[in-house]
Amino acid sequence: MTTAILSALAEEQSGLVATLQQPQRRVHAGRVFWTGSLHGHSVVLALSGIGKVAAATTATALIERFGAARIVFTGVAGGVGDGVRVGDVVVAQDYVQHDMDASPLFPRWELPGYARARLACDGALSDLLLEAAHACTASAHGLFDANFFRTAPQVHHGLMASGDRFVSAAHESDQLRTALRAAGHDVLAVEMEGAAVAQVCLDYGVPFAAVRTISDRADDAAHADFALFVQTVASRYADHMVQAFLQRL
Ligand code: ADE
Repeated sequence: MTTAILSALAEEQSGLVATLQQPQRRVHAGRVFWTGSLHGHSVVLALSGIGKVAAATTATALIERFGAARIVFTGVAGGVGDGVRVGDVVVAQDYVQHDMDASPLFPRWELPGYARARLACDGALSDLLLEAAHACTASAHGLFDANFFRTAPQVHHGLMASGDRFVSAAHESDQLRTALRAAGHDVLAVEMEGAAVAQVCLDYGVPFAAVRTISDRADDAAHADFALFVQTVASRYADHMVQAFLQRL
């Protein structure tokens, strides 16, 4: 059974590729896919690309061409929920597309043809990611420059929102969060791909789970915080998270 590890950023993938056993590099649909064995499991590694369409194409290729039986996404996200800080980890319980709006034909955020706004992640895989996230954050101070984390990193589990926008202004993230919350969707973090992969996985009946480390607060400092986080933390965090997950699989 092949597990797909989908990374959002090249920085997060490089450590995984370096430790891959019997690595094979294949190009399909203009993307690079790495197959091999990682911590005793048959895996295929890919970069999602940025945005919902790129991620949906990658997910489809992983299932159709590489026989992925489950997809696990690791990446970074902007924290919008109360108490979701830079360095914290969010394991997705479900996803909403914050830029989906076919109203008045369908209720705001509902996915036409799916009769719902929210797409659930696989419970068993998410539980393993939660265990892995707790193990990683418990050792975060040992793994990284302790100064990076002002407080001990926390693990959150809840709703994630995806859309084709890097949210980089406090008023924008407030607006997005308030509108969603008024409709009963209390979002912890925003990113740009997960909901698209969740939708493809639902279509194919493939289990999906996602873990995102918070790189910024989706506010006016988001672009600078994001860049610093990617350079300093994202790669080592992803390596440890994937290893801790695969060891529990
Ligand atoms: N990924 C990481 N930070 C993000 C942000 N602020 N908006 C969208 N995607 C992100």
